[in-house]
Amino acid sequence: MQASLRCIAQSCGAHFGIEEVLYNCPKCGGLLEASYSGSFAPANELKRTFLDRRLSNAPLDQSGVWRYRELFPFLDDVSHVVTLREGNTPMLDGPIAAAYGGLDRLTFKHQGFNPTGSFKDNGMTCGVAQARRLKMTRVACVSTGNTSASMAAYAAAAGLEPLIFLPHGNISFGKLAQALEYGARTLQVEANFDEILALVRVLAERLGIYMLNSMNPFRIEGQKSIVIEMMDQRDWRAPDWIVLPGGNLGNTSAFGKALRELHALGFIDKMPRLGVIQAEGSAPFYEFSQRHGEGAFRAIAKPETLATAIRIGDPVSWPKAWHEVQVSNGVVEKVTEQEIADAKAQIGRCGIGCEPASAATLAGIRRLTAAGTIAHDADVVAVLTGNVLKDTDYIYRYHTGQLEAPGGVKIDSKFGNQPIVVPNDPDRIAELLS
Ligand code: F0G
Repeated sequence: MQASLRCIAQSCGAHFGIEEVLYNCPKCGGLLEASYSGSFAPANELKRTFLDRRLSNAPLDQSGVWRYRELFPFLDDVSHVVTLREGNTPMLDGPIAAAYGGLDRLTFKHQGFNPTGSFKDNGMTCGVAQARRLKMTRVACVSTGNTSASMAAYAAAAGLEPLIFLPHGNISFGKLAQALEYGARTLQVEANFDEILALVRVLAERLGIYMLNSMNPFRIEGQKSIVIEMMDQRDWRAPDWIVLPGGNLGNTSAFGKALRELHALGFIDKMPRLGVIQAEGSAPFYEFSQRHGEGAFRAIAKPETLATAIRIGDPVSWPKAWHEVQVSNGVVEKVTEQEIADAKAQIGRCGIGCEPASAATLAGIRRLTAAGTIAHDADVVAVLTGNVLKDTDYIYRYHTGQLEAPGGVKIDSKFGNQPIVVPNDPDRIAELLS
């Protein structure tokens, strides 16, 4: 198997060596992806191998990413891999959420069960393996919080030095705390995500630091495993829809690539449609889709949303993501702050829970079923991208009626659940509970 980096721009398509430190095409500036030539083992053989590995105690086989390593064969030597047993995330039925979303049935693939509590771990184990292969000693990212938490953990476990850039004041404390705990040098920059990304690109080149943002093609390869594992858990029956939140659009790109490859290799016999959901105040990809991809992509200078994970106005992977939405006959939807907050509380009522950005999925599904785009009896998987404990401040404020959207608009705690202060008095408490 031969692996290379390929420019995705249709007018270019140039190939580069897999060990070159590149994030964009040196010829045209396009995004790069990992590309493979040579023949893959037959699908049935690989399905059997993946199943057998579930009985193995070998770390690589226990990883819900590396178990599927034949489907992203970019490494020449797996000794570069550091695994925290990422992936292995459950498929959970959410009947209350299904009813709320206008569906007969809804399954969540919950990436919040990952070691650092988000889907970023699926990609980070691959990005860090590549960093070690390239003998890089320092790795960096700009992040709305989850990428930095994940990178900090994997870099620490791999003996690399993590350097993190965060938008000051706009990430949840849970995520910041993780980065600090894993020992990352953490710089809080007074700028938004998009501005800091431009800054870090300059610094990475100047200081010889390996960048692990999602334009890094190896992170995208790892995030393919979210969909691969999902199909494996469904005995390779593709659903009608896969719905996910869209921020920087790396995950959308990874899901689309995985689906195309699984389909081409005969693992699945149909392509699910992608439903990408953005928060109303940070929805440049939605706006672009409304124009059917015509004209230039227009970034949003001041993105806003309480779902800080997807507070991104200039998503770097939009060209890849747009291709995947088109190929899968997908749709892009946007939802309000109120819709995200209510959907999140409904996911909570299923005993599942997630962080705000993840709940955009259910809010989007509710809109798409109401519009008749998704049928009530469709087979839908929604991907919950982050753990409920990532942003507890948001939860407490919602349930106690103190949550305010950007611009000071009060969020109505429609499904609020206030804690009640009571005296240390059994009679009074019994009375209250009767
Ligand atoms: N959900 C969560 C919980 C996220 O952390 C992110 C992205 C997304 C959804 C959007 O995914 O960017 O692939 O479209 N978080 C990034 C970060 C930007 O820095 O942690 P995307």
